[in-house]
Amino acid sequence: MQESLRSRQWFGKQGKDGFIYRAWMKNQGIPADEFTGKPVIGICNTWSELTPCNAHFRELAESVKRGILEAGGFPVEFPVMSLGETLIKPTAMLYRNLVSMDVEESVRANPLDGVVLLCGCDKTTPSLVMGACSVNLPSIVVSGGAMLTGKFNGRDIGTSDIWRFTDDLRAGIMTEEELNLAEAGMCRSRGHCAVMGTASSMACMVEALGLSLPGNAAIPAADAGRKVLAQLSGRRIVEMVREHMRPSDILTRAAFENAIRVNAAIGGSTNFVIHLLAIAGRIGVELDMDDFDRLSANIPLIANLQPSGKYFMEDMFYAGGLPAVMKELLPCLHGDAVTANGKTVQENVQRCTSLNREVIAAMDAPFNPQSGVVVLRGNLCEAGAVLKPSAASPQLMQHTGRAVVFENIEDYKARIDDPELPVDENCILVLKNVGPKGYPGMPEVGNMSLPKKLLARGITDMVRISDGRMSGTGFGTVVLHVSPEAAAGGTLALVEDGDLIRLDVAGRTLSLLVEDAVLEQRRNTRKAFENPYMRGYTRLYVEHVEQAHLGADLDFLKGGSGSEVLRDSH
Ligand code: FES
Ligand code: MG
Repeated sequence: MQESLRSRQWFGKQGKDGFIYRAWMKNQGIPADEFTGKPVIGICNTWSELTPCNAHFRELAESVKRGILEAGGFPVEFPVMSLGETLIKPTAMLYRNLVSMDVEESVRANPLDGVVLLCGCDKTTPSLVMGACSVNLPSIVVSGGAMLTGKFNGRDIGTSDIWRFTDDLRAGIMTEEELNLAEAGMCRSRGHCAVMGTASSMACMVEALGLSLPGNAAIPAADAGRKVLAQLSGRRIVEMVREHMRPSDILTRAAFENAIRVNAAIGGSTNFVIHLLAIAGRIGVELDMDDFDRLSANIPLIANLQPSGKYFMEDMFYAGGLPAVMKELLPCLHGDAVTANGKTVQENVQRCTSLNREVIAAMDAPFNPQSGVVVLRGNLCEAGAVLKPSAASPQLMQHTGRAVVFENIEDYKARIDDPELPVDENCILVLKNVGPKGYPGMPEVGNMSLPKKLLARGITDMVRISDGRMSGTGFGTVVLHVSPEAAAGGTLALVEDGDLIRLDVAGRTLSLLVEDAVLEQRRNTRKAFENPYMRGYTRLYVEHVEQAHLGADLDFLKGGSGSEVLRDSH
């Protein structure tokens, strides 16, 4: 075992090279016997005070270290770029692929035998998993956990309320003072968003894929159980190295199918689609947009969590967590898929049960027969677009309306509250140029706030269409990820004010009701998108980013390069 360890190519060397590899490490007070054949485990840490959701990760890393030491490993913690959803401009998504490169190269370049991925806020999960897949050394995910449920004025609140509160403020139902009180009460503890937003969806995704220990998704960040899970994961990764258990052993097609069905049952984020496609691309599993629609078609919504339902991640934990959800779903899952603890999905969840049917329902008494992600096609989205039916309004699922078009986000912000804007509740709001290339980075602006004058009349939902994303905490009848995007020459670029658009969710179509000849004419007179970014990462990104229906990875990052490094550094 010892000599088969990858880290021996560094620490097992004699002479000049071995001296260099070991001597500088010893400045950290590491005894000589640490270098004699213990599995070296990297702890890839996205700790940052600029990523509040991950700000407790140094402490979490200590628990992981304890577990690694107990199992006879040699822990080494290292940082990678951290993506905080709330502070990073123009959008954290622009940097997901950059971080995946940071992770991939950091893991490969260093004397590591396995790695623990500390993930929390939205993008920190897909970016770390994508990078780890491209190296394919034994890897386990430890998520940071969600915040405790927020409190305001005697009621429970979470991130999804931000959208309600800001609409209430604009409609004059809520005051600035009340909003300040809500701000003070919402983020009560360490951890990420307390609803089934993207971060929680990603934590569920890694558990459903089998990349974490069971229970990882729902233990609150503030619960002592989170540290226990971190310590146990530290112990387990050492065993995974000894067993040569790699991401490619876990991430089979069956694992991806399980993750899609679980995401449907929990009402997970639409961002799940884009991130799972990117992960599949790295590990080399065939997956496309239609898989999401097809595999989630008969899965009902059984987790009653915001934004599709009522409760919060803390409630899900008390109700049995994701294992209880997966137990309900077991007849629809590949129970024989192997997970990080070496056991199958079935072995992990068969003795679990829902402890609160208000939060985790039975399959035959779900909260909503509709779940998952619907994939739309039509002349407005030839390569697809997505909509989350559990977060949409039933009366708008079949709707034809007049387009009110915004050329970009600045145009939207400048005109949406103009009392003269010719818009009513039957119109369809269309936002262009918020896709991967056009923005760039595909921001979460797809759930555009409604015009103030309609909010004041009590209107709470309208059909909205864009080539952008929406926050996993968002809701509404919102068509997202229109592909190809406007900036890549998609038909979306050709929509004009007054055009009729038809959305038919049951028929899975999104159509621009304008004659082909007219569209052709518009296409010929349209100026093509030019990349305004002349240098740096943004230039690289715009030149190489793929469209949303492929996962918005950079084209040259698809697949992996393994863990081998052929040359020494001195
Ligand atoms: Fe970090 Fe929501 S802002 S998870
Ligand atoms: Mg987000």
